[in-house]
Amino acid sequence: MTSKKCDCQGLCDAPDFSELAPVLGKYAKVPGSLITILQKAQDIYGYLSMEAIQYVAEQTGIKAAKVYGVATFYTQFRLKPIGKNLIMLCQGTACHVNGSKMIEEAICDELKIKDGETTEDGLFTLNNVACLGCCSLSPVVMIDGETYGKLTKDSVREILRDIKKNEKA
Ligand code: FES
Repeated sequence: MTSKKCDCQGLCDAPDFSELAPVLGKYAKVPGSLITILQKAQDIYGYLSMEAIQYVAEQTGIKAAKVYGVATFYTQFRLKPIGKNLIMLCQGTACHVNGSKMIEEAICDELKIKDGETTEDGLFTLNNVACLGCCSLSPVVMIDGETYGKLTKDSVREILRDIKKNEKA
């Protein structure tokens, strides 16, 4: 199956894969490159849409079900768009021992989402992750690359409220 080129000159909602096309030009026929292609697609679009999966399948000749299977097998891939602020909550051993579950409960309660979900307003996505490499600060979250340590239920709620407030300002 091949995709038809849309000739609407940008007037329709057909997905634009012009950034991904060169990646496929380079890797589509290189055996064992599917993960690399999916990583690059996720880097470009922030997640792997069904349209992107279909496009990768068409360009590589790999069945869409197989591409989808790989995308869902590896936890590094996201099938939904992420929020504006990505919360990476450490669930490594030191953080676990020092209360990461309690921090997770506070975040979930504050934002009304669970691990892997995005708030309705698109502001936050929560992802549980392995050790973030700053165990002496446990329990730790990283939000948009900034590390917050020695968290309590109250302090993490305050951090989230501050970010929300700044988003609205
Ligand atoms: S276990 Fe959380 S930073 Fe290492």
